Amino acid sequence: MAQDDLFKKLIAHAKEYGYIFQSSEIYDGLSAVYDYGQMGVELKNNIKKFWWDAMVKMNENIVGIDTAIFMHPAIWSASGHTSAFNDPLIDNKDSKKRYRADDLIEEHIQKYQTKINKDLAKGKKKFGDDFDEKQFLETNPNVLRNKAKIDDIQGRLVKALEADDLNEIKQIIIDCEIADPVSGSKNWTDVRQFNLMFETQLGSVADGASKIYLRPETAQGIFVNYLNVQKTGRMKIPFGIAQIGKAFRNEIVARQFIFRMREFEQMELQFFVKPGTEMKWFEYWKEMRIKWHKAMGLPEEKYRFHKHDKLAHYANAAYDIEFEFPFGFKELEGIHSRTDFDLSQHQKFSGKKIQYYDPESGESYVPYVVETSIGLDRTFLTILAGCLKEEELKKENGESDTRVILQIPPALAPIKLAVLPLVKKDGLPEKAREIINELKFDFICQYDEKDSIGRRYRRQDAIGTPYCITIDHQTLEDNTVTIRDRDTMKQERVQIPELAKIVEDKVSMKKLLKKIF
Ligand code: GAP
Repeated sequence: MAQDDLFKKLIAHAKEYGYIFQSSEIYDGLSAVYDYGQMGVELKNNIKKFWWDAMVKMNENIVGIDTAIFMHPAIWSASGHTSAFNDPLIDNKDSKKRYRADDLIEEHIQKYQTKINKDLAKGKKKFGDDFDEKQFLETNPNVLRNKAKIDDIQGRLVKALEADDLNEIKQIIIDCEIADPVSGSKNWTDVRQFNLMFETQLGSVADGASKIYLRPETAQGIFVNYLNVQKTGRMKIPFGIAQIGKAFRNEIVARQFIFRMREFEQMELQFFVKPGTEMKWFEYWKEMRIKWHKAMGLPEEKYRFHKHDKLAHYANAAYDIEFEFPFGFKELEGIHSRTDFDLSQHQKFSGKKIQYYDPESGESYVPYVVETSIGLDRTFLTILAGCLKEEELKKENGESDTRVILQIPPALAPIKLAVLPLVKKDGLPEKAREIINELKFDFICQYDEKDSIGRRYRRQDAIGTPYCITIDHQTLEDNTVTIRDRDTMKQERVQIPELAKIVEDKVSMKKLLKKIF
């Protein structure tokens, strides 16, 4: 299936099965804002738990906090967000569409990479086992020409972004003859900077209201509480503070469903370390974070690291973990070595000393920070994109059928088991309710008695429920049920008292955590 079609199907599926709805839909929606439905909220809560457990529960030296969305406006001056949290924007005069200028250039660069990949695939096909990929990439004239173009454009872009040279960014767009992806027009305005923070007022106007912001990241709530947590928690360096919460950005080019939203959730860790040890911890967190992603069991080739060419002025190393979404490889998580920039800035702007006293060495210093920052909604999207499948099934009469299945890792699945009486009579519904009343203490269960058993299985496959339990007439005789596995569709007859253990073995969060620790 073409990636575009796959993405459309994913969005339709997310709505049809109660995962994600457009915000304010009955009023024609609010752009780039989404609501999570009855299934979505469960999946989201499970992802949060997996992250929280992997950070806070599994590490003695990491604690969590939950800070307010509204913060003192001076925080955003100290962090640099008021002056520098900008996107370079450009408008097309004909189509009236607005774009991020750097994104247009990156997408143009990607075209050369696609050409290289195509040449590579052709070479592999032509030479088979004798193909030497390294040599091909180093010598093939087409590849070399395209590589040189990539290096040239990328080099210019990085320099222009570093120097905040908006004229040069526009010049790259003109030199590369980049056209509006919608209309094909090359009639561009100048590039302008646009601040992404939402503003609001604290207090009524009569009181002399002051301008405050909706936080654009959760990280600053951690930095300004560094001393509180370190002192009250008697934390010793190295230690971390984790937080999950909403962030807000007035994204101008908000597309691609929940990939880029105006209101979204982040899961962030600030890990405080002794200056000079930050690279060791940076490597440590890179490895831990990719393990966390891979523990979910989505195809490993869908993840890759991307090294930042352009480092923020406060960072001394930065990588992204990218995921191959239906619209290509894009950032999912950032891992940044932020030096002592944030704490030093808050020290300067607040006038309060923010340091760590090392009782062993007797020295005091401003700690360095390694940050891991992941979007909860983007993680959610990786799961939908990686787990939504259409399977061909061969029926007994030789005809073929398809089933749509959401192969969510069982520990993250919204509903862990469905309990289905084969018929709506003969005491089977009552027996099903009895089973649910016992299992609901441990698992979110769903009861369903409508339609044929086959249709009910399909509904649960589409939601992603790992197990279906069927109550039939034999159940009343020998206290057994059949349990059907979502992925293999195999059914087994088991004793009712065994159910809790069978399900727990498959759906426990411990199973995922054990792959990391
Ligand atoms: N404290 C560092 C920070 O906020 P970032 O790269 O701007 O860094 C971190 O954001 C993560 O937050 C991203 O990797 C992405 O997963 C998520 N994110 C950022 N902007 C987003 C948006 N508009 N919609 C959804 N997720 C977003």
